[in-house]
Amino acid sequence: MFSTLNKTDHAKRKRVLADRYANTNVMRSASVEGIKERSNRFIDRCSQSVGGTLDLFVCLHSYAFDCITHHLFHPYGSDSLRSTEDEEIMRQVTFDDSLQNRLIKYYNPTLHGLIGNVLSLFAKPRETPLADDLVLNASSKTEPAPFTLLSRMQEKTYNMEQMDMAAECLDHMAAGIDTTGDALCFLMWEISQPSSLHVQKRLQEEIRSNEGVSPDKLPYLDAVVLEGLRCFPAIPMSLPRYVPSGGRTIDGYFVPEATIVSTQPYSIHRIDEKVFPEPDRFNPDRWLEETGDADRKRMFFAFASGGRGCVGKHLALAEMKTLLVDVYSRFSTVPDESMSADMMAMSDQIISSQPLGQKCLMRRNWHEDVAQPAVSEARVHVFDTARPYKTSKVTLLTGPTYLLNHNPRKLENRE
Ligand code: HEM
Repeated sequence: MFSTLNKTDHAKRKRVLADRYANTNVMRSASVEGIKERSNRFIDRCSQSVGGTLDLFVCLHSYAFDCITHHLFHPYGSDSLRSTEDEEIMRQVTFDDSLQNRLIKYYNPTLHGLIGNVLSLFAKPRETPLADDLVLNASSKTEPAPFTLLSRMQEKTYNMEQMDMAAECLDHMAAGIDTTGDALCFLMWEISQPSSLHVQKRLQEEIRSNEGVSPDKLPYLDAVVLEGLRCFPAIPMSLPRYVPSGGRTIDGYFVPEATIVSTQPYSIHRIDEKVFPEPDRFNPDRWLEETGDADRKRMFFAFASGGRGCVGKHLALAEMKTLLVDVYSRFSTVPDESMSADMMAMSDQIISSQPLGQKCLMRRNWHEDVAQPAVSEARVHVFDTARPYKTSKVTLLTGPTYLLNHNPRKLENRE
């Protein structure tokens, strides 16, 4: 579906597959229970890490991997949150270092065709044999659960060949790991910063006072997720499209047919300060204001829109909200002292973006709590925000004082 250039063929394929990503299908109990089960496995990892550090980057990618393979193939999906063998598959997809090779292939396919073999000696090609094996194996199985994508593709009416099904699943698997994993990682990092701890606290309050309520019925959680995706869209950059035959006039400019044009979620989320005032500020409250609601929704582009928009949107939101409810109903999150803002800068890949340091360690005293965030010891921290915040002093809860310094290079922790 991703690479189908022809609009009619693309729409035809999308009509077949979209059924399994419709909200009604994602919300079916077998599908939701599977997400909850994987979220519980994530919580087990958190509980085991109490007294140590937890790498959210790795665990969130494992979570996204297990959720997407559940949706594609259940019961033949992965279990990377519990099995190191399966975690290795996730790592092969996520810790890929073939960016240079792929950029040359993308921008100059002819040159790549000529020197591809020599190039591979210096710049690694993308190779994911473990993931390929998993998908080939799973997509050859019979009787997958009825909510899965595989079950849809195996319907006789569509007459799809096995290799076609496997190729489609491989694309969807790749589309569902880094996007959801990184979106959650950036968001949890953000709400663990001193400047956003009030957000974490309010989120905990909403979740803890609404036990048993479905995650999609919690307005503040919704605002936090939307704001995370607005500030840190997992696919932040250009989404290319061909101008159709005859050309088109766009915003008063005539653009000839076959020109490649694009829009970027990152820019759209910042371009109109009437719609998103102070666009670089992480501020979930903006989504709770009644005025301007229609404009904000229109300008929200994390999942793109239209015929090529993200088919996995409802699944991604269900995964994100389920995990956030499970984490913040039990825990508070504070970054490990070894982390710096530089490590969490958005690092552009081919179209997606991931934390530059490829890790996101949560602090040693990340602990199970009931009412108090983990920051409740009377300590003073100087945090590296590397953001254009003015130096300010904020007193939180019963004791701790945070000094937000606008550009120290390293995150320190002072008694
Ligand atoms: C937070 C998580 C996610 C974000 C931010 C995201 C974002 C996007 C965006 C911006 C596009 C449009 C690409 C383009 O226009 O060229 C897209 C397409 C797509 N996404 Fe997602 N996505 C997410 C999660 C998922 C998940 C969980 C799946 C599950 C399989 C998925 C599957 C797809 C597919 C198959 C397409 C191609 C749709 C088409 O060609 O019609 N995405 N996604």
